[in-house]
Amino acid sequence: MNNDLDVSNSSANEGKNVFLVGFMGSGKTHWGRIWAANTRRSFIDLDEVIEKTAGKLIADIFETKGEDYFRKIEANALRTCATVSNTIIACGGGTPCFYDNMKWMNEHGITVYLSCTPMEVLKRVELEQEKRPLVKKLNRAELLFFIEQKLKERESYYTQAKFSVVSQQLKLESFPGIINKSSS
Ligand code: S3P
Repeated sequence: MNNDLDVSNSSANEGKNVFLVGFMGSGKTHWGRIWAANTRRSFIDLDEVIEKTAGKLIADIFETKGEDYFRKIEANALRTCATVSNTIIACGGGTPCFYDNMKWMNEHGITVYLSCTPMEVLKRVELEQEKRPLVKKLNRAELLFFIEQKLKERESYYTQAKFSVVSQQLKLESFPGIINKSSS
């Protein structure tokens, strides 16, 4: 994994899809949209693809069909990204952890992990807790405990990403530096 935000002009990664991975609230959708607009790429939010395909909100899918079903359709939705190029794809927080999805993403594009501290995640997730079925019923203390545990559990998947950046340090211009760095 690479932490160095080198700003070289290498075009080795031109046209490739970029998968943003990281915990809920780590800024995948926020930064994905901004970077896509700024670098003339398309943007896809995987949760939105799932909701459109299923005709239901993520929270409703979890409630009516359960997490296992959600993970299956999430893996299928991810694989539809093989048909696009030059696109930044914001994954769901759990996407890398099921059905060899991380391996698949590494084989089909550039993966970038947006890391975030548990306290920062807490601040951000609290603002939109209702939308996130895994945490919507938790009080503040339970939420922090859940975040700390899940982050530990998921870290080994997230760190399989080719590049890693600290979410709180990101800037508008960070993105070309991350992926223009020629990768081996
Ligand atoms: C999930 C994160 C959510 C969404 C679903 C499950 C998770 O996406 O896919 O609620 O397992 O962490 P965000 O990371 O965009 O909130």
